Amino acid sequence: MSNEKTNFNIAIDGPAGAGKSTIARKIASKLGFIYVDTGAMYRAMALYFLRNHIDPSDQAEIEASCKDVEITIEYKDGEQFVILNGENVNGLIRTEEVGNMASATSVHRAVRLKLVELQQELARKESVVMDGRDIGTYVLPNADLKIYLTASVEERARRRWSELKAKGIEADLKEIEKDIEDRDYRDMNREFAPLKQAEDAIFLDSSDLTIDEVVDKIMEYYYKTR
Ligand code: DC
Repeated sequence: MSNEKTNFNIAIDGPAGAGKSTIARKIASKLGFIYVDTGAMYRAMALYFLRNHIDPSDQAEIEASCKDVEITIEYKDGEQFVILNGENVNGLIRTEEVGNMASATSVHRAVRLKLVELQQELARKESVVMDGRDIGTYVLPNADLKIYLTASVEERARRRWSELKAKGIEADLKEIEKDIEDRDYRDMNREFAPLKQAEDAIFLDSSDLTIDEVVDKIMEYYYKTR
């Protein structure tokens, strides 16, 4: 690794539904940085485990099958494409089923180590806005700017419910809230690299802010830090 650091890395961590990906994508586009969606990588692995009927709690089986999975990333016009064993899976990984499987299987060290290496390599090569759960604490501990973005469970559930409704899917708000609480618990309480705020991260609660207000705040921090 070179000591001559010319790129600027922004880490955005937080729980599911806080608005990380929308906000990270906007900031990357404003700054001309690469947007790295690490959740999509865990989702692609999860898709592999689902397709192969692998039990998420069977550590030995998960570890063994990690060897059969190759995840790579490609970029076209600023859009990230996740390639699972040669197949572009972007269109297949946004379901609740894949999200829950990603949360359940990302607890395994073997899964994380495989993806963390890829994430660190991307940040070494380019200026990135990277979002996830452990970016500021584990993947990029020396990131130049770290944001911990959250929102109340009720607000995150309401946003998710509206997204589904816009797609014509009727969902139960209470069930979504429960799902979010379960996911938060798993992501925050796993043994290896759990979701938590890095000591040097800026805390931002987006419950009462619009997307553009959050983007403007982060841009202000960027100009102060740069
Ligand atoms: O951000 P997302 O909903 O696409 O992430 C799906 C799951 O992947 C999330 O519940 C936990 C896991 N994940 C992780 O453990 N570490 C990351 N850096 C990103 C996601």
